[in-house]
Amino acid sequence: MEFFDVIKSRHSIRAFIDRPVEADKIRKVLEAANSAPSAHNAQNYVIFLMEGKNKTAKLKSAAKQEFVYTAPAVLVFCANIETEDKDSKRPLPNIFPVQDATIAASYAQLAVTALGLGCVWVGSFDPDKLSEAVGAPKTLAPVMLMPIGYPAENPAPKPRKKLEDIVHRV
Ligand SMILES: Cc1cc2nc3c(=O)[nH]c(=O)nc-3n(C[C@H](O)[C@H](O)[C@H](O)COP(=O)(O)O)c2cc1C
Repeated sequence: MEFFDVIKSRHSIRAFIDRPVEADKIRKVLEAANSAPSAHNAQNYVIFLMEGKNKTAKLKSAAKQEFVYTAPAVLVFCANIETEDKDSKRPLPNIFPVQDATIAASYAQLAVTALGLGCVWVGSFDPDKLSEAVGAPKTLAPVMLMPIGYPAENPAPKPRKKLEDIVHRV
């Protein structure tokens, strides 16, 4: 798919058919995330991949929305909040790892669309329960969840603000 077509055709998908996502497609999504820019190229984030039926029990209390724990695959992006600059060894501002994780997730989201799959960015979850569900240490802060699968819906595009309302020429 052409890049701008990918952007245009990406809509949040919250219903998936009961079909596993092929391993090579998951790998492409993860490779897209891995190609994202990051502060100092440090990639201060971790992605947890959950597949199969047993993730349901683990995720149910962490993410209340059903489409999350019933999706064929779920990625959990976590920021590594205990990080230091490679050269100076000084702590990196916490906002960098969060940005790293967020940009990587954005790349993954577009790759999902380009591969004919669907996903939705999920920011509502219980962070402690989600950390427990994926076995993340306290130094990894969950940033977002991405349920992925073959779409069982074709939602209409959501409206956006006018460019003039978000862009301010200064
Ligand atoms: C930071 C963030 C948090 C979000 N959290 C949720 C969520 O918890 N549950 C959900 O169903 N959608 C969530 N969404 C998806 C948005 O509702 C969706 O992107 C928005 O309504 C625009 O629709 P579109 O993605 O189809 O263009 C979130 C999106 C972002 C960027």
